[in-house]
Amino acid sequence: MSDPTPVLTIDGPGGSGKGVVSREVALQLHWNLLDSGALYRALGYMLLEKDVDRADIEAVTKIAHTFPIVFLNDQVYLEDDNITAEIRSERVGAVASEIGVHEPVRAALLDVQRSFAKSPGLVADGRDMGTVVFPQAFCKIYLDASPAERAKRRYLQLKDSGFDVNLAELEAQIVARDERDKTRAVAPLKPAADAVVIDTTELRIDEVVAKVVGIAKERLPAD
Ligand code: DC
Repeated sequence: MSDPTPVLTIDGPGGSGKGVVSREVALQLHWNLLDSGALYRALGYMLLEKDVDRADIEAVTKIAHTFPIVFLNDQVYLEDDNITAEIRSERVGAVASEIGVHEPVRAALLDVQRSFAKSPGLVADGRDMGTVVFPQAFCKIYLDASPAERAKRRYLQLKDSGFDVNLAELEAQIVARDERDKTRAVAPLKPAADAVVIDTTELRIDEVVAKVVGIAKERLPAD
């Protein structure tokens, strides 16, 4: 029997707006939210903290199966440590992308991601939500924007959070991370065949949110 919980997936590259849009869409629909990037980032953060050799895929996979991540009220914890702010750095993002190329690591994170699909519904934000983790999703969205616009958004976000960043460096890092995420052999970043692709370069966040909620509501049975 298929899972009756409706899942709406929002995939796309960094800076495409999927984080804020997913949060707002989940709020408007009163649904649960999965920020799968935070999961990969938290794992990356833990590997850095524990100085684990990231080339040792067996060790990384073992940690991925057991690491004590907790999502609570918009915050991310490793056991009792609140790491919400720390995992947002570009360094942690790059490590998340680096470990995300390995199939056993991705497989280790599947169950925890799928456990978020709970009533009344789920908005799942990531890179492979519509293609791999929730292929049965009733609505799949892929957000994109030009690299320059995405770098500008990330720059403002990171500055706002107190990180010291350089726009040109950030754009180069974003382009490098996109390249790795799109060309990896396992679960590469790409729109699902049945995804609606939205270019957000010229759109405000509220316009994107309205579009996504509109598409979702059209497809949901009227109550
Ligand atoms: O969405 P984000 O920037 O927080 O994600 C950080 C990195 O984590 C991203 O560059 C690749 C990896 N990731 C992934 O491989 N699969 C996901 N579903 C989410 C993130």
